[in-house]
Amino acid sequence: MIECPAVQKTVVQWHYDLSTVFYRVLWGPHIHHGLWHANESPRTAQVQLTDAMADLARISEGDKIVDVGCGMGGSSIHLARTRNCTATGITISPLQRRWASTSAAWHRVGNRTKFVQADAEEFQLDAETIDVVWSVECTEHLFDKRAFFRKAAEWLRPGGRMAICAWLAGENANSPDMEQQVFDVCEGFFCPSLGTAHDYMGWMEDSGLTINRWHDWTSQVARTWDICERRVRRSGVRWLARIIDRDTVMFLDRFRTLREAYDTGAMQYGCFIAEKPAA
Ligand SMILES: C[S@@+](CC[C@H](N)C(=O)[O-])C[C@H]1O[C@@H](n2cnc3c(N)ncnc32)[C@H](O)[C@@H]1O
Repeated sequence: MIECPAVQKTVVQWHYDLSTVFYRVLWGPHIHHGLWHANESPRTAQVQLTDAMADLARISEGDKIVDVGCGMGGSSIHLARTRNCTATGITISPLQRRWASTSAAWHRVGNRTKFVQADAEEFQLDAETIDVVWSVECTEHLFDKRAFFRKAAEWLRPGGRMAICAWLAGENANSPDMEQQVFDVCEGFFCPSLGTAHDYMGWMEDSGLTINRWHDWTSQVARTWDICERRVRRSGVRWLARIIDRDTVMFLDRFRTLREAYDTGAMQYGCFIAEKPAA
């Protein structure tokens, strides 16, 4: 695991309150990478990532899902619409909570979704009440990842699944240059640490879950950052960011670092599906 101790939780919340509009305009309702099989549009690629993860987690009608770090509700709304399940989304950002609720009503799934503003590291649910704990690109922001996995595993009923997509420190990111790349990404994207695939599997297994295997999607998602960088350049968003604050400029400038970190192997992108053994 590579750490960036200077990151503070208040800054994570501030970032998402401030930047959600930019994410929506530049990227769409999902704040996560696209998953490409060929030359699909970025919007299609984002939905493909959600669907691929949902297939691996065997999400089906009636499943009760907790979407940890739900952003604008992209996954929760999509799963409620396409798989007829119910979803509770948690986000640290009050603005995102309101945005997600409004969007769910707009898409006519307000009765199958609920959005809560809370810190996932403090949030509590009854044990064994959930079919799927789902989290796309949020665990990077958590400070005590091991404790989160232990708690989230308790929420799952026997036979329930955990589906996680996460940015990872590369398994072999041992050189000073690679470590610096990971550190720069953590700093620019407000992640107190990035775990390796090995770390993630350890946290899940220590929580009593069984992992079949993890999926390394790095080469299929990396294009995300070429597109985002191009859109930032063309849109003049960086100019606007300079008026807002230094952190937002740094965030935009680290898109290239992240892309390069995938190329060098300093970082990877992983999807993990784990299961709670049946009683
Ligand atoms: C990269 S976005 C991903 C959003 C969403 N999963 C999606 O795919 O569209 C990260 C999300 O994690 C949330 N987040 C970060 N730290 C959090 C925390 N401690 N508790 C709850 N949510 C958190 C942010 O508010 C944001 O919604």
